[in-house]
Amino acid sequence: MIKTLFVSSEAHPLIKTGGLGDVAGSLPRALARANCDVRLVLPAYPDVLEKSRITGMKAISEFTVLGEPVTLWQTRLPGTRVLVWLVDHPYFSARPGNPYCASPNQDWPDNHLRFMLFCRAACELAMDRAGLNWRADIVHANDWQTGPLPLLLNEEKNRPGTVFTIHNLTYRGLFTWDAFDQLKLGNDYWHFEKLEFFDYAAFIKGGLVYADYLTTVSPSYALEMQQPEHGWGLDGLLRSRSDRLVGILNGINTDEWNPGTDQSLAQRYNRNTLKRKAVNKAALQEALGLKVEPHVPLLGFIGRLVEQKGIDLLLQVLPGLLKSGRIQFALLGSGMSHYEASLTELARSYPGRLSVTLGYSEELSHQIEAGADLFLMPSMFEPCGLNQLYSLRYGTPPVVHNVGGLKDTIIDADANEEEGNGFVFPDATAASFLSALERALAAYTDGDRWRKIQLAGMKADYSWDASAEAYRDQVYRPLLEA
Ligand code: ADP
Ligand code: GLC
Repeated sequence: MIKTLFVSSEAHPLIKTGGLGDVAGSLPRALARANCDVRLVLPAYPDVLEKSRITGMKAISEFTVLGEPVTLWQTRLPGTRVLVWLVDHPYFSARPGNPYCASPNQDWPDNHLRFMLFCRAACELAMDRAGLNWRADIVHANDWQTGPLPLLLNEEKNRPGTVFTIHNLTYRGLFTWDAFDQLKLGNDYWHFEKLEFFDYAAFIKGGLVYADYLTTVSPSYALEMQQPEHGWGLDGLLRSRSDRLVGILNGINTDEWNPGTDQSLAQRYNRNTLKRKAVNKAALQEALGLKVEPHVPLLGFIGRLVEQKGIDLLLQVLPGLLKSGRIQFALLGSGMSHYEASLTELARSYPGRLSVTLGYSEELSHQIEAGADLFLMPSMFEPCGLNQLYSLRYGTPPVVHNVGGLKDTIIDADANEEEGNGFVFPDATAASFLSALERALAAYTDGDRWRKIQLAGMKADYSWDASAEAYRDQVYRPLLEA
């Protein structure tokens, strides 16, 4: 058994703001199946404590980091046997709401202190200094919030191997000199080969510079991030570490995202009963105030309303399509206020055809995946993307930009008649997006062909097992054998 400390700032269903939550909520369980003895470490946010109290939790340790007392709670990831360790400090337990920000456009001002404390606590756990008689072989950290952890471990003797997974290079955890100074890391780290990044301290560099292995969530993104266009100033560093950088595609939780058993749906269906999907379309149209028109293609979008997700392209192509009366559109998301305002405004112009739901809803996200005919992901970049995988499983062919994980998972149905499972556009322009959409809408009118495209997506295997084995065999084992 490989003792693996998996450290993340979120994990579904305890706490989730995006795909990292999905991954940290599923990969540890798959690693356990792949012969790893996993402990998942999370901050004890109020929501997490509340949910864990219901399933059962107990305090298993108290220790201090730089004089700050921390309580460690042990619980299990709901619905699994995975052991979860919750790092309890008022930085987390006294901050309800979003884990990272006080309001949508305003981060908590002390995030540097909060996540440094989290990393220091995880370091104590990894080194078996919290009296738990469990010492990690591998510490697997994720995204900027855990970036300093490989750095801290690098200072230890007889330390575990360290792995840092990049889920999104644009979130780098940037803090000023004054904030850096409060971390008590030592001024040596303020150096461009260490944490310093254009006059800021970048938490992500703790992982990029010091982890033994770097991974990211698709093979294509592993290549893209080494190029200036997608490297966000870190491409040089990533190139210098390319011998230790591995792209491993995410899986999905196939229990939760299964149209055959999904409790959120008006009508469950599978490959053999695909016709029943139409019931979900009608229910969604009804619920969202769209006209119940079975033959008008219903397009879906779910996601954070940020530049990455290609909202600008959506806003460029939607008006024309809506005006023509050829489509309906259902959007669920939240994010930047200017996008929220533009979408709301557009929805006012097309009642019955465009539905915009601002906010976060697990249930509606499942209903859109099942009820929509087509799913749109015009992302500018996409490290992996999970919604296109959910869409494939729900028989809702995606239209995607040819980047990152979208490129690695979607096969264009016009280019490959046998295996095509969606539609891919090459350029991040409205014209390129629109032309793929037109191709998708044309295919939709041909029932047999459409069904073939749906089935190509539904029959593939997107479970986590292959990815967990790749982490074990391509990253953990080589580290242990080194
Ligand atoms: P990212 O991590 O960049 O946001 P992913 O596609 O990897 O993108 O994952 C996003 C996850 O968050 C998916 O599970 C998606 O369904 C979910 N999600 C995003 N926005 C919402 C929302 N408003 N309501 C419900 N789920 C959402
Ligand atoms: C990030 C990326 C997304 C990826 C997710 C999980 O948030 O934006 O593409 O699927 O992490 O790895």
